[in-house]
Amino acid sequence: MTKLVINETKKLGTIAPEIYGHFSEHLGRCIYEGLYVGDDSNIPNENGMRKDVVEALREIQVPVLRWPGGCFADEYHWKDGIGEKSGRKKMVNTHWGGVTEDNSFGTHEFMELCRQLGCKTYVNGNLGSGTVQEMSEWVEYMTFDGISPMAELRKSNGQEKPWRVDYFGVGNENWGCGGNMTPGFYGNEYRRYQTYVRQYNDKAPIQKVACGANGDDYHWTEGVMKTCFDHAPEHLHGHMDLLSLHYYTHTECWEVKGSATEFDDKAWYRTLYNTLYMEELLARHTAIMDQYDPEKKVGLSVDEWGTWFNVEPGTNPGFLYQQNTMRDALVAGINLNIFNKHCDRVRLACIAQVVNVLQSVILTEGEKMVKTPTWHVFNMYRHHQGAKLLQSALSDEEMTGIGEWKVPRVSESVSERDGIITITLNNLSLSEDKELAVSFSENKTRKVEKALVLKGSDVHDMNTFEAPDTVKAESFTGYREDGKGLIVTIPKASVVTIRVK
Ligand code: AHR
Repeated sequence: MTKLVINETKKLGTIAPEIYGHFSEHLGRCIYEGLYVGDDSNIPNENGMRKDVVEALREIQVPVLRWPGGCFADEYHWKDGIGEKSGRKKMVNTHWGGVTEDNSFGTHEFMELCRQLGCKTYVNGNLGSGTVQEMSEWVEYMTFDGISPMAELRKSNGQEKPWRVDYFGVGNENWGCGGNMTPGFYGNEYRRYQTYVRQYNDKAPIQKVACGANGDDYHWTEGVMKTCFDHAPEHLHGHMDLLSLHYYTHTECWEVKGSATEFDDKAWYRTLYNTLYMEELLARHTAIMDQYDPEKKVGLSVDEWGTWFNVEPGTNPGFLYQQNTMRDALVAGINLNIFNKHCDRVRLACIAQVVNVLQSVILTEGEKMVKTPTWHVFNMYRHHQGAKLLQSALSDEEMTGIGEWKVPRVSESVSERDGIITITLNNLSLSEDKELAVSFSENKTRKVEKALVLKGSDVHDMNTFEAPDTVKAESFTGYREDGKGLIVTIPKASVVTIRVK
């Protein structure tokens, strides 16, 4: 029988809560309808934010929210989104469907949303089409506590005290939609722009995020690190706190994304195989970063990840609206296990996007709302936030799959917080349950506090507005306690969380 050996005396690092972060973009129905309906809406809201959505997001303890994009960030001009709503400039959202953006959700609304969620703020600045001055003034507007032109402007718009900006992204995907730059050019632009992202709050300095690679573009990572570390005093560690990485899972590839809901067995394995590629990406980008930053002062921010399939038939192709099945649950479970295990370098991650776009945790339609299978995974994994990663390993790497799309049977990660060990397990097999003997290194009697399983009667199961609870986490009884360890049977194609004391 395969063994999962847990060494609870070996704590390998802290799992930053921000690994469980989310991304909100002015794209399709993410901001408007999904998060924000305006305070004159019939949909229950607090200051324009949907109450049902905020409550569901608070439940999974969203630690950080990234905004306003994505590609949208590099054509967003923040001054268009402040002041009286009726006077706000309208613009065309050229990236996403060519729709009119009325800027009724801007900086004040984003900060209000984060206040309601109780989460950290990650604001992504515009380097691609904005000026250094514009970026600098935004930071001054949001964070300066004193007398200055931007602080006065903020106060005149009703916000006396500055907000806290926890993370600030200096451009997004500047190798593509953010300006089609080369790594060396971006590296120099980054150095210049970030200089004027001033730290006005000594007690809570802004963490600066440099634009990192798309998937396996190691050339980008190498070029940006080299440029940013060149002639940089050691204590400034390349002028950055984090470097981003974006990687999406498609069924096959960018050109053949596949349906979100209709897939055969081969597509199941191929999707999971593509998901597991995250492991190699993290290892190889980390190896490059290690050359410049061996002490790992710079974190990786995987601030766009998740499934990207074809849009739901009949919906606007520019809105990227997709449904979410048990396959998405497995993709989430595997990625989060990988991030946990790389917590020495991965300090932030944001699934794309939080509501109504790509691999969302929430879908809405008018006043209706559903929690997707991915929401349940975030709920089951939330105990990892801020916990110590424990050393854990499987005794054999048994494989499953079809043809060349072979994947390990099990994905796992283990952490400890407040004396409770959280074990998250995924069975990647479509056809077979998996027995696992879980052992601990300390000679201590262990008791299961709580165990949950997420599985469908069919892997295509999803939550719809008509049947919102088809897939939901249920109490898990598929284990035996044998005093010091456990024998667990992980159902096929499922996600399991076991909390042990
Ligand atoms: O998430 C959709 C888009 O994917 C984002 O706007 C962009 O950053 C990425 O290419």
